[in-house]
Amino acid sequence: MEELRVFYTGKNGKLTLLLKALQNLPKKEKIDAGKTLNVIKREIDQLFISKKQEIEDKVLNAKLIEEKIDISLPERPFHHGGIHPISKTLDELICILGNMGFEIKEGPHIEDEYNNFTALNIPESHPARQEHDTFYINKNSKLLRTHTSPVQIRVMSEKKLPIKIIAPGATYRCDDDSTHSPMFHQVEGLVVDKEVNMSDLKSIIIDLLKSFFQLENLPVRFRPSYFPFTEPSAEVDIGFSKKKGFIEIGKNDDWLEILGCGMVNIKVLENCGIDSKNYKGYAFGLGVERFAMLKYGINDLRMFYDNDLRWLKHYSFRPEGFPNIIRGLK
Ligand code: DAH
Repeated sequence: MEELRVFYTGKNGKLTLLLKALQNLPKKEKIDAGKTLNVIKREIDQLFISKKQEIEDKVLNAKLIEEKIDISLPERPFHHGGIHPISKTLDELICILGNMGFEIKEGPHIEDEYNNFTALNIPESHPARQEHDTFYINKNSKLLRTHTSPVQIRVMSEKKLPIKIIAPGATYRCDDDSTHSPMFHQVEGLVVDKEVNMSDLKSIIIDLLKSFFQLENLPVRFRPSYFPFTEPSAEVDIGFSKKKGFIEIGKNDDWLEILGCGMVNIKVLENCGIDSKNYKGYAFGLGVERFAMLKYGINDLRMFYDNDLRWLKHYSFRPEGFPNIIRGLK
């Protein structure tokens, strides 16, 4: 095709030479012949362009057919990755609490003593400080947060009321055995409003536990307890039974402690500049590893972080199974 084009419209092509020869014609004939030749040239150019396009399209289409991938092939089993049971448990807790209207807040893992202890009504001499086995970072009172409760202080200090938040995330304590890991996870909950009381707290906790364990008749018990940042405080137990070493949640044989909660101590509200005459609050804190172990039958805490492939393959979840508001926890 290119040869043909050069033959007619190339530098020394037939048509080009005719066009060049126009200058030798008398004026009148030159105009007529010029017009005719230009019409012919335009037609020839157009023909070459469209033929070229036609050939290019054919080549492209042939290539597309040749390289076609059949995406309708059945899915191949793909076992290389999975959702870690801690991520799954966090997703589930966030899904349930998100449905109840809790907003997610985060705080830094490197905290200061004031937010982690002092503002939460745990003064320096308080025995709770020693119990927390704190990782101190330097002498400027920086530490790795020992619980998610300091996020309460950060949120309340913003003084945007009312408050209804959860703070999920990693926490750290200098402790390492079969029931303790130096890094673990908590979910903190905090509600501050004009009219809140202990029964609101109870109903939220009962709903949370029933939804999480997917047991409508789960026995739940509130037992008086003590936390410096809540007054009154309670620990929550759920019913279980243990047969041949296996724990079955939902039975009524014995009680298992599962989380801490209470009405926010007035001192804590005031430390954050909240008017405790008009506003009340409730809070709760739970351990994600404990929730995961009880729901998924995991009995050694250390396995969560060992990255043993055999364990991960057994306990991880298929990625398509994310809990969401429409589908639920599955
Ligand atoms: N911060 C406590 C801990 O790590 C857990 C806790 C208990 C949090 C009671 C709360 C609460 O908000 O009300 O041991």
